[in-house]
Amino acid sequence: MIDTPYYCIDKRRLLVNLERIAHVRQASGAKVLLALKCFATWSVFDFMRDHMDGTTSSSLYEVRLGRETFGGETHAYSVAYADHEIAEVVSHADKVIFNSIGQLERFAAHADGKPVGLRINPGASASGFDLADPTRPFSRLGESDPARIAQVIDRIDGFMIHNNCENRDFARFDELLTGIEARFGELLGQVSWISLGGGIHFTGDDYPLDAFCARLRAFADRYGVQVYLEPGEATITDSASLEVTVLDTSHNGKDLAVVDSSIEAHMLDLLIYRLSARVEPNAGPHRYLVYGKSCLAGDIFGEFDFPEPLAIGSRLSIRDAAGYTMVKKNWFNGVNMPSIVIRELDGTERLVRRFGYQDYRDSLS
Ligand SMILES: Cc1ncc(COP(=O)(O)O)c(C=O)c1O
Repeated sequence: MIDTPYYCIDKRRLLVNLERIAHVRQASGAKVLLALKCFATWSVFDFMRDHMDGTTSSSLYEVRLGRETFGGETHAYSVAYADHEIAEVVSHADKVIFNSIGQLERFAAHADGKPVGLRINPGASASGFDLADPTRPFSRLGESDPARIAQVIDRIDGFMIHNNCENRDFARFDELLTGIEARFGELLGQVSWISLGGGIHFTGDDYPLDAFCARLRAFADRYGVQVYLEPGEATITDSASLEVTVLDTSHNGKDLAVVDSSIEAHMLDLLIYRLSARVEPNAGPHRYLVYGKSCLAGDIFGEFDFPEPLAIGSRLSIRDAAGYTMVKKNWFNGVNMPSIVIRELDGTERLVRRFGYQDYRDSLS
């Protein structure tokens, strides 16, 4: 038995997504890069590498990690590179993507002859959250004025656009892409590659993959470009759980249970976006509010139904715990970080990383 808490990455589940990605690459001609900001657990990169073309990044450390641990094509992007970073970023990258014309003008000469890209902000997105909307008013994410972009087009080899966010709706994706074509069409034909970013949930069970692939191929043909996709969430969706143990139970108007983990420290997006965790089957006569063990009053995984009463030592499995969790975990309250475990294709579980007091101490000084 492996001590909880731990994130458990299930290769069988991951493979379902990877096979869909491999199909999209083959049927659409698009290249597919893992967005490390979402998932950077490099212990499974050996397993993922054959199904994808490489990685994309949001910082010097991510681009370096992508180069060192995943390989393939390594795209560098950052909202803003610092002077002291750019040379090292370029040394790890196959393409260097700038967020603004200001950054392009400042650093393109340092790109060492590597292809240079610019982020476009198309002004419309599929985000349901203001916080995550890259096209929100006064956004800093990308250039939005076609006339200004046209002035630097001779220095740009490609574009990156990210305006889909948790978008499960192909029609909405299609509509947004049509909007991009209407506004930036003149420019799109003048570059050799275009990344459509992440946020398209094309690995979902009922996603119309044929229509998606046909749309990507038609787009690529129309502008004569290599299309890239940058899925984070779609790559790893539902491929990991967070395994926790009940440490205490009590009653305060409702039945309460406290587990040996924390949303603030280990599944931060639940807190940021005010979402409930997923526990399945979530059915039965015993309803509990499941709390984390940090001191934050609202550290709540959610309210779930169980077939049996929870007791100290009961094990719970929080679903869909791969994306934006391990990359965001922190040492709030000094709560120990969940270990990282890989469930192999044959069902055996392998501990690949355990954290301890020394890691906590080393994160401070
Ligand atoms: C530029 C870019 N690419 C890719 C992604 C990955 O998005 P997702 O994990 O929703 O697929 C993001 C997410 O913020 C992004 O900003």
